[in-house]
This record gives sequence, C-alpha cells and structure tokens, in this order.
Amino acid sequence: MSPDHGPLLYEGKAKRIFAADKAEQVIVEFKDDATAFNALKKSQLEGKGKLNCQISACLFEMIEALGVRTHYLGIADENWMVAERVKVIPLEIVLRNIATGSLCKETPIDPGTELKPPLLDIYFKDDGLADPLLTDARLELLGLVSAEQRIEIETISRRVNELLKGFFEKVDLLLVDFKLELGINQLGELLVADEISPDTCRIWDMRTNDPENRILDKDRFRKDLGRVVDSYAEIHKRVQGISSKPRNYS
Ligand code: TMP
Repeated sequence: MSPDHGPLLYEGKAKRIFAADKAEQVIVEFKDDATAFNALKKSQLEGKGKLNCQISACLFEMIEALGVRTHYLGIADENWMVAERVKVIPLEIVLRNIATGSLCKETPIDPGTELKPPLLDIYFKDDGLADPLLTDARLELLGLVSAEQRIEIETISRRVNELLKGFFEKVDLLLVDFKLELGINQLGELLVADEISPDTCRIWDMRTNDPENRILDKDRFRKDLGRVVDSYAEIHKRVQGISSKPRNYS
C-alpha cells in the first residue's frame, strides 16, 4: 500500500523519491525493478523492493545507533521509507574488503585477495558516462566537494565499512564490498543517503565455501545465478536476528 505522498521528485533505477508533507522530508519507494550493467540488463524481481527497504532500514538504524548520521527517518510501509531531504552528491563511494568485480576486471589483482586497508574507490555518478572511476585530481577538478568534505566522506565510509562488517560477521555474512552515496541536508551536514542493501553490497555466506552458492547479493542477478529474492530474504532473516524491528514513521 502506498502512503500519502506529494509529487514525484526523482525516479532512479531502483527507487522513486516523492515529496512529503514536510518540506525537509521525502518519501522513498523501493521498486522491484532490477538493473545491471548500466541498465542494459533489466528485470522485475517480486519482493525485492520490500526486502531492500527493510534491510536498509535495519542497517541505517544500526549505524545511526553507533554515531553515523543518515538520511533515514523511519519506515512508512513495507517498501516505503521516510527520509530527510538531502542534495545527493553525484559520487558513488565504493569500499572493498576483498578483491572482486570491476577491480579484478581492471587490474591484475587476484580475485579473493584481502584488501588491507580496505580500498576506497570514488566514481562519478553519471549514467551517461557509465559512472567513471575518478582520480583524486579529477575529483578536485570537478569541484563537487570541498577538501574537508572529501576527508569526511572517506572517514564516514570507512567507519560504515567497519560497522557493517562487524554486524554481518555476527550472522556469518562476509561484507566483500559495497557502495555508498552521501547527501547534504539543509543544515549543510553530510549524511549517508540512498540505501544499504543487497543491491548495493556484495555479501557472501560464510556457511558455505561454494563460490556460487555463497553469493547472496545482486551478483546473483548480474551473473544469472537464480534465487535472487530468496538470497535477499536470507540476508533479511539474518539481519533481523541482530536488529530490532525498524521504527514506523508517520
Ligand atoms: P564493482 O566491483 O562493479 O565496481 O562494484 C563495487 C560495489 O558497488 C559492489 O558492492 C556493487 C556496488 N555497485 C552499486 O551499488 N551500483 C553500481 O552501479 C555498481 C557498478 C556497483
């Protein structure tokens, strides 16, 4: 069921953002749409939106409880979230604990190599340019963030990585890598925005060593491994085991 909301403000590949009654808030709908490879591959996965919304809510609440500011305010319905309105910085911050994915396509680093310290990669969020990897010099040239914000983004992202890794390990899940987006609220504060879900993280099941069965995230969709929603449900089940029920917001 859709909660009361104002006009559509923005539609992304996996979410729609609507105006809320209060100007400083938005209502976020998590869609069942799945895309990969810059939307070259598309599908509908029934139940994905609800699972990503609920998993994100649990994870946002857990990192907030440990001092990380996020845009999350609460759940409005199964696949609807209320969030603080922020200006999203068009950067995708990727933290990698284990080498896989594009890192292994673009460099000779062996898949499975443990990255210590975790590798931070910053991409320019622009579908038309296929989200290119930025150097620090290019990031500075683009002028999207100040030097202080660049440092703060790295500090927040590394802290989120340590927290998420710790939560997931408690329920035998390995955080391989993930992507964060940050936004700036009306007070000029940096907040973790977007979502933290199996769409935006690589998460492996530590209860098996099988290289395909252990994948519980969107790589199942990218690689046509099947059981995508079942795997997201497994992550949800385990995350529920270490978190309280997400708060309702009305
Ligand atoms: P990559 O190895 O393909 O660069 O992906 C790194 C991480 O970022 C992985 O957890 C998946 C996530 N990711 C997104 O959330 N959105 C994207 O558009 C891409 C390419 C990756």
